[in-house]
Amino acid sequence: MVRSMVPGRGVQRLFIKASTRKRQYFDKVLAATLSFHTVVCYMLVMKIGTLELCNNLILAPLSGVADAPFRNMAARWGAGMVTSEMISAHSLARGDARAMEMLRHDSRTCAFTAQIFGADPEIMAEAARRAEVSGVHAVDINMGCPVNKVIRTGAGAALMREPHRAEAVIRAVRRAVSIPVTVKIRSGWDESHRNAMEIAQRAAGQGADAVTVHPRTRSQGFRGNADWSFIAKTVEAIPIPVIGNGGVSSPADAVTLLRRTGCLGVMIGRGALGRPWIFAQLEHYLRGEPLPDTPGKVQLLQEILNHLHLAAQRTQRPGAISRMRMHIAWYTRGLPGARFLRKCLHLSNDFASMENILVSYFRNLGEDQFIEDGC
Ligand SMILES: Cc1cc2nc3c(=O)[nH]c(=O)nc-3n(C[C@H](O)[C@H](O)[C@H](O)COP(=O)(O)O)c2cc1C
Repeated sequence: MVRSMVPGRGVQRLFIKASTRKRQYFDKVLAATLSFHTVVCYMLVMKIGTLELCNNLILAPLSGVADAPFRNMAARWGAGMVTSEMISAHSLARGDARAMEMLRHDSRTCAFTAQIFGADPEIMAEAARRAEVSGVHAVDINMGCPVNKVIRTGAGAALMREPHRAEAVIRAVRRAVSIPVTVKIRSGWDESHRNAMEIAQRAAGQGADAVTVHPRTRSQGFRGNADWSFIAKTVEAIPIPVIGNGGVSSPADAVTLLRRTGCLGVMIGRGALGRPWIFAQLEHYLRGEPLPDTPGKVQLLQEILNHLHLAAQRTQRPGAISRMRMHIAWYTRGLPGARFLRKCLHLSNDFASMENILVSYFRNLGEDQFIEDGC
């Protein structure tokens, strides 16, 4: 088998220039080549402005989920970049302790971007400055949050309804920091207002270094089909890297997303819950190498304990125990007796007793009962 060249900007450009018919032809040739002769490597050393990522696989911002311990797990399993939970620009700008704590990043192996949300350009700029001073590698502007509490303030997805304000926010943040600035958008507000390409063009025009597209509208929330054609259209519309997001839960999904849309990076959210090793699996698959095994019983317990120990170092964070219960529920999804395990964990209020419960649960779990997650 021959490994082809890494398809980077060259391939993206080729897609941009090709007419639809040519593009379909190119796709067919690529598919034929893939199946008969070549394993194409989709793994890229991705550049976002001045920042060079070790690969093009990114952990999504996940409010209430992607805290430092979980990000650390994703980094250990090979994510090229991890993103903070969304942080209120107001809180960050006034140096609120909890907001500052959300900027803490422990992993040295992978880049860390802080996502901020707000609608006031000056406050967003001040928040970005604080994030830069704290040592993050990039700042991401949230233009996708669908939650009413955020929308009411004009922030999140509401910015997509106000392109001039969106532009002013990006301009102010860009001027405030020297690290890369990225913008995360949806396909639009609702079915009849899908303006992702316009917002992406404005972002590129104001000096943003990359745009992430989650191609659901605000009305869709997190349900329904993520229409990847919007990612492809955005790739064609702007000269900066596009990161595709939405519905990637397996290595095959990631390759399909990269191939169909020409985007350069893949962002994974829910696909990483309870299985941060998805990044290692994706990395091997995108390199055209055999998939590593999903962790078996012994390794799964070890991984959960690793996560638990990382969380235990941060007990000062409110809700640390209940967050860990939530993560354990994801890790053990589908395993026999997982419901009983969850009930037991609800009765425990410290990390040491959680560890004991986990160890005895896994001790009683026979190898033959162990269910692979099928990734
Ligand atoms: C629990 C949860 C929290 C999320 N929090 C954020 C957030 O803070 N900022 C953001 O831009 N998107 C947030 N999202 C959206 C994800 O980043 C991502 O765009 C979406 O889940 C689609 O990707 P997926 O199909 O890989 O999960 C959140 C999604 C979920 C499910």
